Parts: sequence; C-alpha cells; structure tokens
Amino acid sequence: MKKIKIAFASDHAGYELKKQIFDYVREKGYEVEDLGPFNSTESVSYATFGKKLGKHLQDKKADIGIAFCGTGLGISYALNRFKGVRAARITNVNDAYLAKLHNNANVIAMSGRFTTFEEAKKMVDEYFETEYEGGRHQSRIDELDEI
Ligand code: RB5
Repeated sequence: MKKIKIAFASDHAGYELKKQIFDYVREKGYEVEDLGPFNSTESVSYATFGKKLGKHLQDKKADIGIAFCGTGLGISYALNRFKGVRAARITNVNDAYLAKLHNNANVIAMSGRFTTFEEAKKMVDEYFETEYEGGRHQSRIDELDEI
C-alpha cells in the first residue's frame, strides 16, 4: 500500500504548533515533510508558505497538507488559490470531521495562537479517521475546479 505523504507549512505564528503536530504525525507512521519555516524568530508571510505548500500539492509531491498560522485563516486563503487544493480551516473536531466527510479536504489549517496541542491532536485524529463520503458531494467538489 502506498504510504501517504503529508507536507507541513506555517508562518512564524504557527511554527510551534506545526513542530508539535509534525512529530505527532510522524510518530503515527506517515511520511512527513516540513516546508518551513525552520525557526520562529523571524516574522514571515503566511502567503509565502501557503503558496509553497499549495504548489507542492499541485505538483503531487505530497497527498495531504497540514498548515498553521496565527488563526489558520491567512494560510488557508493562500492554499485555496491552487486548483485542486481544498484547505479547511478547522477550529474543532466537528470541523475536522465534516471537512473530510463532505468536502474531502486535502489540507487542514489550524491556529497556532488559539488552538492547543491537545485540541490539534484531536482534530488531526478525527480528520485521519474519517472517510470521505463521496456521492452527492463529488459533483460539488468537481464544480469548485471548474473556474
Ligand atoms: C501573523 O501575525 C498573523 O497575521 C498570521 O499568522 C495569521 O493569523 C493570518 O491569518
């Protein structure tokens, strides 16, 4: 079976939670790659790293992305400009569940400022444990890429 590849990106505000979740996901046995930044001392743009992750997914260098910024919002905006990328900014377990079940999100974006490591782990687990439902949702997802 093909090993799922997961790429990570953040800005400075998402850096610490990214590091923690990166290790958590790696310990689960997934293939992981961190696209940066590699320290939190410098203020960097969520757009730069969101675009880096979006391109990486479009180029099929990873299957799934996990992204972080202060709120999870800015980096999700950057990601959602890439055709085929469906980045869900999630703040609770229900978001994580429905982002996969209905929207087949291929990126989850979380807040480094308002989400704890414990909350983030629960959301990540829910996202991985939920299967996309398909059916009526597929034509809606296809429609997203029609522009
Ligand atoms: C950076 O200070 C902050 O604006 C950014 O991390 C994010 O919250 C934007 O959406």
